[in-house]
Amino acid sequence: MTTDRSARRRFLAFVASSPLFAAAGFEPGLLSGLLRGGRDADRDLLDLAGHLPVQESLITRAQDGLDVFDFEPVARKAIPVAHWGYLAGGTDDDATIAANRAGFDRWVLNPRRLIDVSRIDASVTFFGTTYPTPIVINPVGSQKAFHAQGEVAVARAARAKDHLMVLSTVATTSIEDAIAERGGPVWFQLYHQSDWSVTKQMVQRAERAGAPAIVFTVDLLGGSNRVTLLRESRKDTRECTRCHLGGPPLPGLTGRVDAADNRRKPNLKGYEKLPPQLERGTPTWEFVDRLKQTTRMKVLVKGIVTEEDAALAVEHGVDGLFVSNHGGRAENSRRATITSLPEVVKGANGRIPIVCDGGFRRGTDVFKALALGATAAGIGRPYIWGLGAFGQEGVEAVLTILRKEFELTMKQSGTTTLSQISRRHIAPA
Ligand SMILES: Cc1cc2nc3c(=O)[nH]c(=O)nc-3n(C[C@H](O)[C@H](O)[C@H](O)COP(=O)(O)O)c2cc1C
Repeated sequence: MTTDRSARRRFLAFVASSPLFAAAGFEPGLLSGLLRGGRDADRDLLDLAGHLPVQESLITRAQDGLDVFDFEPVARKAIPVAHWGYLAGGTDDDATIAANRAGFDRWVLNPRRLIDVSRIDASVTFFGTTYPTPIVINPVGSQKAFHAQGEVAVARAARAKDHLMVLSTVATTSIEDAIAERGGPVWFQLYHQSDWSVTKQMVQRAERAGAPAIVFTVDLLGGSNRVTLLRESRKDTRECTRCHLGGPPLPGLTGRVDAADNRRKPNLKGYEKLPPQLERGTPTWEFVDRLKQTTRMKVLVKGIVTEEDAALAVEHGVDGLFVSNHGGRAENSRRATITSLPEVVKGANGRIPIVCDGGFRRGTDVFKALALGATAAGIGRPYIWGLGAFGQEGVEAVLTILRKEFELTMKQSGTTTLSQISRRHIAPA
């Protein structure tokens, strides 16, 4: 009996010292108090142990991933903590990241039976170019912070799987190289610069490189409060200024990039020193008009979440929209993009294509967006988990999983083309 008890106490002491306790958010003081206590305390402690998360083993090969979440912990292990903070973080308390995910639960599927779904076509056409899937590789900055090959690996995966890819202004690969590695057109995401003469050259360069469209991101113009990024950066003991010349790494905080921090941002380099034309204030719709007048490329606006702004975009000749809150990294609205989507679709009134992004992690999420009127769905973090975990192979595996899940949902819903996916295929939960 005494042996039993001491063995149990030794086991409990071992469990209490496990990092899993810390991960589960238990106070170490509480545990030592319980260990000092008697038999009841042991029981309480065992009870607590029962609430510990079970540590699943991490996948070691890209092909072993069963869903996109399998790649997240592997990437987390591989990516430096400050860079993980940049990837995972949102704004304030990160509530809008959670809201983006929760938004999908407000919709359920209405599966249909006895329809021949032996052949399906999930292709989508943007401005005359057809892709076999409506899953878009969204712009994510600084990808060499997640894997040595960064955007090159992503462009190669986009080529292998034939996805539409959008390259960030603050990519660590140039638009020219991205297009070469993709082996076809890549859209260019635009962060405007404080000097219009630089922005203009950047747009013209993307056009010369062969980009058919620019995606002007407008959701950071008011700034954003990236608490998780800053908190995680403090845990990183490496010398940030080896790469970030502008000081601590704070990309995207103001929607502009510190000119001193451009060493690893090839899209921000190499412009002629023309007489500066400094912007007065932050961009308005007049800036969008200017972009339209500057280029023959299609001009899309990313970050629209209201009917009013969608209608204004159409009025200003915008060619397409991204319903986006920057993956919960812009304002902390706590409003899911899937919730904003119907009103944006209404504002655009079927006149321009609409990509919805934010929290897409399942094929059913993509299906719900299309049922609510989106033309396509954009993904950010999931393909970066694949990249961080296994490079190009990981990106391809994530794309394969999402496509398989989406096409399965199409079949289960009795839809064989994207145009057949309608509001009748889903219902409020
Ligand atoms: C680390 C990170 C960097 C990003 N960089 C950019 C960027 O440079 N330009 C841009 O328009 N959006 C950027 N985004 C937003 C994504 O394009 C997209 O809107 C968002 O990631 C979608 O949400 P998800 O990550 O939940 O899929 C970034 C997102 C993340 C997570």
